[in-house]
Amino acid sequence: MHDIVGKNQKNWDDYSQAYLRFKHNEKMLERIMKDPSCAFEKGTWQQIARYAGCLKGKRVCVPSSGDNLAVFAFAWMGAEVTSCDISENQLTAAEKAAGRLGLFIRFHQADTMTLAGLEDEAFDLVYTSNGVHVWLNDLPKMYKNVHRILKKGGLYVMCDVHPFQRPFGDAMKVVKPYTEVGPYEDEYNITFTWRVQDIMNAMAEGGLRFVHMEEMHDEKDYDYPFWLPLEDAVNGVKVPKEEVDRLYDWRQNPTMAIPQWLCIVCEK
Ligand SMILES: C[S@@+](CC[C@H](N)C(=O)[O-])C[C@H]1O[C@@H](n2cnc3c(N)ncnc32)[C@H](O)[C@@H]1O
Repeated sequence: MHDIVGKNQKNWDDYSQAYLRFKHNEKMLERIMKDPSCAFEKGTWQQIARYAGCLKGKRVCVPSSGDNLAVFAFAWMGAEVTSCDISENQLTAAEKAAGRLGLFIRFHQADTMTLAGLEDEAFDLVYTSNGVHVWLNDLPKMYKNVHRILKKGGLYVMCDVHPFQRPFGDAMKVVKPYTEVGPYEDEYNITFTWRVQDIMNAMAEGGLRFVHMEEMHDEKDYDYPFWLPLEDAVNGVKVPKEEVDRLYDWRQNPTMAIPQWLCIVCEK
């Protein structure tokens, strides 16, 4: 087993340019600028709006910020945002995009499990988005530090792939038991498929108080159906309406019988 953080960091540094070419597509950014809430899963945005309220002037931290689309959205809402990631290339590209967009954002390189260099009790909201937990080997350590950087009464909101999706591959073929969480190592990455209990117990161990959970299905979206590569969606590739209807129907697409997304809200 290699150094987990180091190996994943190298992979994201190498992959960053290709990853962000489409994520930072002009049409995508324009869409978020017009309506920042569309940078979030609909159900997740509802929870942020419900529990955090107006974000103008609030201090928000986004660990493992990746494409930074949520970071840009929070900044457009008037929040004072700190974007953290382990990959220098992801941060540098996001900083350039923020400059072009006229957004003032603080970019900070840190491992999400330590959040080193971030002040204690500094943030009103910490948000982690889709595709964060899979790279992390120590969730209790992550949540201890999320708790550390939150102000008293501050909120943590996460949205990630629902762990119930993890045992299934294409056509809902079972590829592993739910209880097997990794580590999985290939040429490029080391990843984990944490269960609901691993995430929630880590939050509790970190000192966070559970507030609310949503187990969500993708909202039916004819322009951006969830399986359509983003590249095609932003290039205006249209999927026939009947095909979209078929793939959102659990009777015809069994993956729709279980939730795709897990959103959890906690408070310090
Ligand atoms: C799939 S993105 C998730 C964020 C966003 N939702 C997105 O789709 O771009 C994964 C990000 O996690 C970062 N990452 C991986 N391991 C990390 C770690 N230990 N600490 C901080 N960031 C990490 C990667 O560099 C990458 O930018």
